Amino acid sequence: VIILLCSNLQWTEDKEQNRKQMKHTITLIPGDGIGPEIVSATVRIIEATGIEIEWETQIIGAQALEKFGTTIPDSTIESIKRNKVALKGPLTTPVGKGFTSVNVGLRKALDLYANVRPVKALPNVPCRYPELDLVIVRENTESLYAGLEHIVVPGVVESLKIITEKASTRIARYAFEYAKLHGRKKVTGMHKANIMKLSDGLFLECFYNVSKDYPEITADDKIIDNACMQLVMRPEQFEVMVLENLYGDIVSDLCAGLIGGLGLAPGANIGELGAVFEAVHGSAPDIAGQGIANPTAILMSAFMMLRHIGEFDAADRAEKAMMDVYAESDVRTRDLGGTASTADFANAIIEKLK
Ligand code: NAI
Ligand code: MG
Repeated sequence: VIILLCSNLQWTEDKEQNRKQMKHTITLIPGDGIGPEIVSATVRIIEATGIEIEWETQIIGAQALEKFGTTIPDSTIESIKRNKVALKGPLTTPVGKGFTSVNVGLRKALDLYANVRPVKALPNVPCRYPELDLVIVRENTESLYAGLEHIVVPGVVESLKIITEKASTRIARYAFEYAKLHGRKKVTGMHKANIMKLSDGLFLECFYNVSKDYPEITADDKIIDNACMQLVMRPEQFEVMVLENLYGDIVSDLCAGLIGGLGLAPGANIGELGAVFEAVHGSAPDIAGQGIANPTAILMSAFMMLRHIGEFDAADRAEKAMMDVYAESDVRTRDLGGTASTADFANAIIEKLK
């Protein structure tokens, strides 16, 4: 199991020394729609912390199709494998036609099996649950979300939901390890094992098998439809939630809505070969190109990335600067009722970092 955001202990001693010595090379995928706008704001903020990063810019998706004739160029995968870490803007996937999801392709190509999505309200951001602090651990490689489907005969399609013991066990273990490391006391498995007795049943069985190795952590489960209602009514009952891929996708956006919207929900895709940090949201074509998107979600993904590579001090300083902007100023992007542009918001954070 790879442990994310974890290595405080091994780093504290040599932190200062490391900071001076280490230059990181990170793959940068600006993405589509609002991607380049929020990614460049994030890069400016990270650079304002003073740490040394060499960004290896790569393209993927529709842009790569146009340039290289393939949506997932080998050069992009090789870059992430080499650097072990990437910061990625959202990618547009055509609806109901066209190429298959590049996000799915990337997660599969690198076996980024754990999608970790913290859900935490920010200071002074009006939302339904200002105290909320939970974490979604989403299985990232299989289930219906893999998009394995075909036409059986015209008018009839088949979509395959593959659930394996291997993937279910490793995501459950990841969730319990995460809980242990972050001092969380409860992990909830979410499923539809009353109906999909075999597939979700296996997921649930693996969840409880793994839970036996963590007697200090409470393990419970909820059927997914009730879980959605409970999340809207009483989300404080959850600490860490572990879900198969499609449920995790849907519940992630639901949870973003609990804390003020998609502009605020960060995430990380973690595997043995590397880690790709990206926001929960998509390319937001409705506001792309206007410079008004909220960069907070991808910025917080970048904080997760900095901690993943051991840059705790830079992450702490940048996060504090962002929190201070929320706590002490009225600089807000439009999704939060303000008038600030993406760049204005980034500048306010950079100002605090000086
Ligand atoms: P979306 O997440 O792009 O947008 C949903 C709504 O939230 C829109 O009204 C948008 O303006 C708003 N929004 C999203 N992020 C925002 C931000 N940072 N600041 C302010 N407002 C924000 O979802 P949608 O429209 O369903 O999908 C658009 C495209 O994105 C699709 O092609 C989809 O496949 C793709 N997508 C890609 C993801 C990824 O690359 N990881 C994840 C989700 C969707
Ligand atoms: Mg999604």
